[in-house]
Amino acid sequence: MAQILDGKAYADRMLEEVRLAVEAREAKGLAAPCLAVVLVGEDPASQVYVKGKVAACAKTGIRSVERRPASDISQSELNQVIDDLNGDPNVDGILVQLPLPRHLDAKAALHRISPAKDVDGFHPLNQGRLFEGLPGLRPCTPSAVMRMLKAHGLMMKGQRAVVLGRSEIVGKPMALMLLEEHATVTIAHSRTVDLPGVCREADILVAAIGRPGLVEGSWIKPGAVVVDVGINRVTDVSLGERIFAAEPAKLAKLREKGHVLCGDVRFGEAMQVASAVTPVPGGVGPLTIAGLMMNTLEACQGKPCD
Ligand code: GUN
Repeated sequence: MAQILDGKAYADRMLEEVRLAVEAREAKGLAAPCLAVVLVGEDPASQVYVKGKVAACAKTGIRSVERRPASDISQSELNQVIDDLNGDPNVDGILVQLPLPRHLDAKAALHRISPAKDVDGFHPLNQGRLFEGLPGLRPCTPSAVMRMLKAHGLMMKGQRAVVLGRSEIVGKPMALMLLEEHATVTIAHSRTVDLPGVCREADILVAAIGRPGLVEGSWIKPGAVVVDVGINRVTDVSLGERIFAAEPAKLAKLREKGHVLCGDVRFGEAMQVASAVTPVPGGVGPLTIAGLMMNTLEACQGKPCD
């Protein structure tokens, strides 16, 4: 039976580290860092995520401000919101919650955020720094996953790592960070030929493709470390019957409540093959938020946290 990699517990340790750093700043008479979150419209999932981010700020002593423009805001009005936050000396970090309504250009908005306040690490300048292996603000999910894997004592040097998914938020930066640690990295995706065979080569498998239960136990190399970044809401009982065959409690919950959260990996099957697996929920989700708090502190201090 694999070990469960408790992302929530590790995230709590990261939050405590940030809280202590904020406290130390205040003891020196320095202001607490401040995160500005921009949430356009009423997307229910985004509202939940933003609530979690604001709650983490409160827990660590980071100040937070919210801008909640209506969903019909124009691009130039959104630019003005971002420009105001860029110019506000009391704001250290800016996060524009994605997805944005379809009429808005998300990339243009992300590129408008000052690189020094880009706590998501999505600005091309910060992406370029990561590409070059330089310090800078890095995407929260992969950087927090790397921290946890290192704290877990995982040796990455020379290991085969497969990243399933090629998003700019997780897949691509995750691959660069694993490469930085001298892993031999493959990025696989929905068009990869023989996806199961490619995954089966992985000593470290990171699934970030957004497809519930895609990764079966038979896709996992015995003893692999499996990081499941997917957070999928499943309502279809017939899908649940297939992907939760080794997780009767999850299937029962789906039948009872009509919905459950699950990752891209069939957790019950993975537990029988891997050496360590992150659960969903309680795995990578809390780590992402903790990574955001670290980045906000880093943006405030003007240098990377280590
Ligand atoms: N929406 C889903 N994930 C993210 C993220 O990491 N950052 C932002 N800004 N929006 C998201």
